Amino acid sequence: MAALAAHAWAYPMLEVLHLLGVALLLGNLVLLELRVFGLGAALPAEPLARLSLTLASAGFVLAAVSGLTMFGTMPQELLANRVFTVKMLLIMLAGCNAGWFHGRRSLQKLDATARALMGVSTVIWLLVLTCGRWIAYV
Ligand code: HEM
Repeated sequence: MAALAAHAWAYPMLEVLHLLGVALLLGNLVLLELRVFGLGAALPAEPLARLSLTLASAGFVLAAVSGLTMFGTMPQELLANRVFTVKMLLIMLAGCNAGWFHGRRSLQKLDATARALMGVSTVIWLLVLTCGRWIAYV
């Protein structure tokens, strides 16, 4: 953490990596969501899902690693920040929602529940993004 404090560009670079992770995560989830909602029906759902979920997972790992590093620079402030707490709870909720989506084999079914869970996932991730930006203002 001392190395981070010693370089003025280090924290902004972490934010760049964080936003790159967010873009990879959300961009690929939106692509999969469109397929679950029936757009691009000529594309086989399962191989497309494998590719988009691999990239979305890589995005999440990048966001989590850069986010935890930023967290390490000011843990007390962030633990006392209610918006940060809500953001972490929402990420856990998104994980549970993803577990439900895959546990019931939604990609094979592509039914109304699959569409509903996919929609809920997008709303949760947009709330995570909103909380992320909001942290600095409370
Ligand atoms: C374990 C996962 C994560 C941790 C620990 C984490 C932590 C953080 C921290 C510490 C900040 C800096 C707050 C500040 O200095 O103002 C931040 C900013 C942000 N986070 Fe996360 N984050 C995580 C995942 C995510 C995800 C998955 C998203 C989006 C879907 C996201 C969206 C954002 C946004 C938009 C910002 C504001 C960036 C900026 O203003 O430059 N974060 N996050």
